[in-house]
Amino acid sequence: MDIKGILEKSIDWRYCQCENPEVQAMRLVSGVSDGLEGVLVEQYGSFVLATIYNLDLIQYQHEILKALDELLPTKAILIKARERANSNDYQYLNNDRYDRDAIHSCSEGVSKFEIHTDPRHDYGLYLDTKSARDFVHDRAAGKNILNLFSYTCAFGVSAMTGGASFVTNIDPCKEYLEWGRRNAELNSVVFKRYPDTTQGYLSRHLRRLEKGTDSPYDLTIVDPPAFLVGRGSKRLARNMWPEWMDYLNRAGCPEFIIVINDKSFGREHDLEKFFRNGLGDSIKVNAVEQSFDVVGQQVSYAEDKCYFNPMIFHICR
Ligand SMILES: C[S@@+](CC[C@H](N)C(=O)[O-])C[C@H]1O[C@@H](n2cnc3c(N)ncnc32)[C@H](O)[C@@H]1O
Repeated sequence: MDIKGILEKSIDWRYCQCENPEVQAMRLVSGVSDGLEGVLVEQYGSFVLATIYNLDLIQYQHEILKALDELLPTKAILIKARERANSNDYQYLNNDRYDRDAIHSCSEGVSKFEIHTDPRHDYGLYLDTKSARDFVHDRAAGKNILNLFSYTCAFGVSAMTGGASFVTNIDPCKEYLEWGRRNAELNSVVFKRYPDTTQGYLSRHLRRLEKGTDSPYDLTIVDPPAFLVGRGSKRLARNMWPEWMDYLNRAGCPEFIIVINDKSFGREHDLEKFFRNGLGDSIKVNAVEQSFDVVGQQVSYAEDKCYFNPMIFHICR
């Protein structure tokens, strides 16, 4: 297999599509669509992460590192390779420019983000939801936005740089919210950050709506992980959806971006029916199309057998 040739073609294609590619956050290789099933190469400015989900291609990890190092001679590169099928254990390889404690920054359109290279907390920005951030950015003007499961407040940044009147970010992890504060600073914007769970915040919000001390948000972003912070059955996001939908239904917000990150949940449910059950029959549900740098060059992103891009929905009522 001509690994270097495939990587080079894909990277050249992406670099030709955008202005200032060196500083951008973007997917450089998107699995089967670029000829390497189950391999993602993601650039965050001067840091590049290659993830190999396909066990048949792990044997090429040194070759992939060498090729990327030659093709991208200024980048810090980390290779993350899955150890076993369906496992969350990974082995890592890196080039000489990689430093585990380094902090980088990158751009996505007009927004900037702080990126950490230590894999423990991921890296600060999920590129597979780029289309959703672009979508929010383009329709944020003048809106008061609630960003649930905010992590480092990336949706909050895109909304504020798109002219939102205000954003409230909710995540139980204070460290991520502090990272979010630095992201806001990087973009010269200000937003709220509350350390709370989605269910905790929404139940308080509903009480304040009843008392008239809160108003409904104009747009709510819901981007939960498959596994939540917490214990017992509430640790599984799929068990929490009915409760979240009930809160969201009662909170009077007219517009939602909902991201489904849980592969089995997404495949087992008729999602349109599921949203109608939760939010009412009159809602309009549209899928947000993934952009070129997520989908890749050749075929639909959905066809890669080794990884799953989230499903993104825009819902209005
Ligand atoms: C998939 S990430 C969200 C990605 C984020 N929306 C973004 O755009 O980068 C998951 C986040 O959900 C948070 N989380 C976990 N359980 C939660 C809960 N019950 N309520 C709210 N956030 C939760 C985690 O701390 C983590 O930051």
